[in-house]
Amino acid sequence: MIVAPSLLSADFGHLARQIETVEAAGATWLHCDVMDGVFVPNISFGFPVIETVGKLSGLPLDVHLMIVEPEKYISRVRDCGAAIMNVHVEACRHLHRTVQEIHNAGMKAAVTLNPATPVELLTDIAADLDMVLVMSVNPGFGGQSFIRHSIEKISRLKKLLNDCGSKALIEVDGGINAATGAECAQAGADALVAGSYVFGSPNPAVAIESLRIL
Ligand code: DX5
Ligand code: ZN
Repeated sequence: MIVAPSLLSADFGHLARQIETVEAAGATWLHCDVMDGVFVPNISFGFPVIETVGKLSGLPLDVHLMIVEPEKYISRVRDCGAAIMNVHVEACRHLHRTVQEIHNAGMKAAVTLNPATPVELLTDIAADLDMVLVMSVNPGFGGQSFIRHSIEKISRLKKLLNDCGSKALIEVDGGINAATGAECAQAGADALVAGSYVFGSPNPAVAIESLRIL
């Protein structure tokens, strides 16, 4: 299983040490949550922090933009060292163009779905995507409970991607722990984002390992 710890729940006072810990524990990617206070009812961090994370870590950065008009920032995100740029389908008026521009900038393109957004919206773009991120909580905050319906949604997405001949990975974000992660894995998830489960744990390495083995 690909494991992407979400830095939203990290101790920002000791960011370098927290990154070292999850790297040593076998994290695959680092998940960076950018919030603008408009698309979601919270504000997190932006480019200076992502750039610093990129310098501190050798891991690929998985940048999840919970912002309106993410297409305005493609080159900025790339310049921060992002490997994957995640944009919300609900935030993109011209998703096909945005996906093309992310690819032209040299990044993997991922599209994120809010809990109420049906996977079927991706039918005509699925073949162009590197990853689909299924939100299993409403975006904006760490530490929320996993929405059960996400399991059925992951299965439907898996089938849709197969039917479209898409090789896109399925990533799941929100309320992930060993139990919900196992259910996501069973339903077809390739990557799990975990914030509070990893950074709230007395032993982040054990938490990461419990997801890695799924
Ligand atoms: C929520 C963010 C998540 C968040 C997950 O809007 O997209 O990445 O950090 O936090 P947990 O794992 O605590 O639900
Ligand atoms: Zn996220």
